[in-house]
Amino acid sequence: MAEQKINNIDVTDYPHINRGLDGIVAFSTTKSSIDGKTGELIFSGYHIDTLAENATFEEVCFLLWNDRLPNKTELDELNQKLRSKRNLPEPVLNYIKSTNKKAEPMAVLRTAVSMLADFQDDDADDTESAIAITAQIPSIIAAFDRARNGKEIVAPLKDGSTAFNFLYMLNGEKPGQAAERTMDLCLVLHAEHGMNASTFSCRTVCATESDIFSAVTGAIGALKGPLHGGANTAVMNTLLNLKKQGDDADPVAFTKGKLERKEKMMGFGHRVYKVFDPRAVHLRKMSKELSEETGHEYLYEWSEAMVKTMKEEKNIDPNVDFFSATVYYSIGIEPDLFTCIFTMSRVTGWTAHFFEQKANNRLIRPRALYVGDKNKEWVPVEKR
Ligand code: SDX
Repeated sequence: MAEQKINNIDVTDYPHINRGLDGIVAFSTTKSSIDGKTGELIFSGYHIDTLAENATFEEVCFLLWNDRLPNKTELDELNQKLRSKRNLPEPVLNYIKSTNKKAEPMAVLRTAVSMLADFQDDDADDTESAIAITAQIPSIIAAFDRARNGKEIVAPLKDGSTAFNFLYMLNGEKPGQAAERTMDLCLVLHAEHGMNASTFSCRTVCATESDIFSAVTGAIGALKGPLHGGANTAVMNTLLNLKKQGDDADPVAFTKGKLERKEKMMGFGHRVYKVFDPRAVHLRKMSKELSEETGHEYLYEWSEAMVKTMKEEKNIDPNVDFFSATVYYSIGIEPDLFTCIFTMSRVTGWTAHFFEQKANNRLIRPRALYVGDKNKEWVPVEKR
């Protein structure tokens, strides 16, 4: 083998460094399967299209946690448990009311979820904690949005789906069937996605035998970044900035300019998919319908112009975060809440992976190749 050197260190005998752990298979899982070449996505045995057409978010929660669909009694039971856990502990509400109104919603959500750990029932097991976190995340998001806008916080309903109750708490009025279905479908589509960065973070925390609240808090921190879940907010900001250009707005020239400057187009590209993200197929359809209904056709048209240009120029397709932006915008959600809505759903995937990791745990501890100097001589501080 030819000698390879980094920083004058012979690294011939070291394994290859996969930047970004590209292509590394770290675990086996029954939660989801992603075929990046054909664009096939499966959650615990069910094709994403089947789930998008038939499942409610709560059925997907049960599916990911149990690897099977619930029967009627089990689904009723889960719904009941989720509804009974929606209220936030008083100190968490106080934090939400008193924190900086300009704080990033994802930062507030991260802190509030971390606080929930201090108020869990003494005898709660991981399953009960996962249900409580899933039930309370929508309450945190809605409460912060109302508090920062100087509005009364709306107490959660004792009935209705997660989607219905969230929109009710956010807007202070009960949503119509179409808005509930849109939100529910978004929650179904975002629930799980293999070894994405936030799920990997969740499993890494779990593997130290830390608790489920710590694992979810770490995962929220990872999802927040614009290369991951934060991309949906970035997409909307891109579209709204383009809107500011008025008659000069040109999505094709904008996209080409970004590429020429070697900048990233948010909502495009994926580590695994080399074809159209199957979730984006559903979100694209929703985006078209909702944009037309709400008079935001131009946002959808600009999005399509960007998709076409990215395909022609770079052969890169949109990911889940691209069309979800205009979908959320069309149902009246503020752009900086988009990643929080992703969290509302993905917490089910995270916690499902937490259970899976815990059931067959080994500390996650990769290696780093040291390429710095060695054997430096100590110089006393006054002589440096
Ligand atoms: C999510 O992993 C998951 O499953 C995540 C997710 C989930 O459900 O959990 O699907 C959700 O996080 C979606 C991704 C959201 N992020 C963005 O939309 C940000 C923009 N996208 C990129 O930065 C990028 O595509 C990533 C971060 C998503 C993937 O990065 P990779 O795999 O490290 O790819 P790369 O950056 O090395 O890019 C490879 C090539 C480069 O070109 P060359 O230098 O080889 O010529 O593709 C180009 C990149 O420049 N490229 C882009 C691009 N994405 C990739 N060029 C312009 N715009 C882009 N968005």
